[in-house]
Amino acid sequence: MIAAADFGPRLVAWQRAHGRHALPWQRDRDPYRVWLSEIMLQQTQVATVLAYFERFVQRFPDVRALAAAELDEVLALWSGLGYYRRARHLHQCARQLVERHGGAFPRDARQLAALAGIGRSTAAAIAAFSFGERAAILDGNVKRVLRRAFAPALQGHAVDSSAELRALWALAEALLPADGIEAYTQGLMDLGATVCRARKPDCAACPFAADCPGRAAVGAAGASLPRAPRRARTQAHWVLLWAQDSATPRLWLERRPGTGIWPGLWCLPTHDSADAALRQAHTLGRVDAHATLPPRRHLLTHVELELQPLRVALTPRARAADAASGWFTPDEALALGLPAPVRRLLAAHALREPG
Ligand code: ADE
Repeated sequence: MIAAADFGPRLVAWQRAHGRHALPWQRDRDPYRVWLSEIMLQQTQVATVLAYFERFVQRFPDVRALAAAELDEVLALWSGLGYYRRARHLHQCARQLVERHGGAFPRDARQLAALAGIGRSTAAAIAAFSFGERAAILDGNVKRVLRRAFAPALQGHAVDSSAELRALWALAEALLPADGIEAYTQGLMDLGATVCRARKPDCAACPFAADCPGRAAVGAAGASLPRAPRRARTQAHWVLLWAQDSATPRLWLERRPGTGIWPGLWCLPTHDSADAALRQAHTLGRVDAHATLPPRRHLLTHVELELQPLRVALTPRARAADAASGWFTPDEALALGLPAPVRRLLAAHALREPG
C-alpha cells in the first residue's frame, strides 16, 4: 500500500507536471470564480462547464451582481447544466454573502460550509484554492481514488455506509500534505477525472500504480477496479402539453414546484397520459387541433424519462395572469429557465404549426 506520508508529496509533484493548469477559474484566486466553478463542477464535467462559466461571469462579474439578479435570469443562464437546485442555492448563497458577510467570502471552510449549496467538500475546495487552507475534499471521484489506493484500510466497511464515510474523511484528512494544498487538491480532482476513472482507468499514467492495491486486484485479466455499484434508473413516461394559441405564436408554460424534477424551472405542463393533458388543454381554451409528436428520451440521474409532446392549437380563454403560469412568445419562452429537452423541443419546432 502507499505510505500515507508519501501520498501528498507524490500527488503534488504529479499535478504540477501532468495536471490541469489553464482552467479559467485557476487564473487567480478570486473566491467568487472559484466558488462558481466548484458549484458548476459538482455534477458536470469541465468541458461542459467552460462555456457556462464564461457566460455567467460575463453577466454576473461578482457576488453583488449575482445577488441583485432575479432568480429567473439565473435559472435561464443555467439552463442545460442540469441539477437546477445548484442554481437556486447559488443565488441564495450570493444573497447570504451580501447580507451576512458584506459581499465578501468568509475565509475558512467551516464558515463557507454554513452557506447555501456549499457542503463540506466544496467548502474545503474553495478554502484551499482561494485562501490556501489545508482542508480535505471528498467528492465522488476522490472517494473512488481513496477506495482503490487504500483498499485494505477501508475493507470491512460497506460502500457508502456511515462507517465508511467516517473512515474516508479521516483518511482524507490524514493524507493532507504540509505544503502545496492547491496543487494537492487539484491533483486529487485531476487524478480522479482523467486517470483513476470509474471505467477504464488509465493505470499506466498514474503516479501510484506501482503500489496501488486497487490495481493489484485487477490482475492481468483486466477485470474492472472496485467501484461503487450504480443505481438503476426508474422509468417514467410524461406527456408534455404543448398548448399554443391558434391565432398567435404564444404557448402555455407553467413554473414547476420547488422540489422534484426540474425544480423551479418553467416547463410545458406534464401529465401521466394524453387524456389528462387534453383535459387541461380544454381548461385553457377551445381546442382547435391536436397532434402527438414523436417521444424523446431524456436521462436524469435516477430517472429515465420518456417525454411525449402533445401539441394542441387552441383559442385561449381570457384569464388573469399569475406568477406561476402564462402565455409566452417563443422568444420569451426561450429566455426563461427551461429544462434542456424542453428548450430543444421548442427551439426545433417553435415556428411550425401543429401538424
Ligand atoms: N471538479 C470539481 N472541482 C474541479 C476543479 N477545480 N477542477 C477540475 N475539476 C473539478
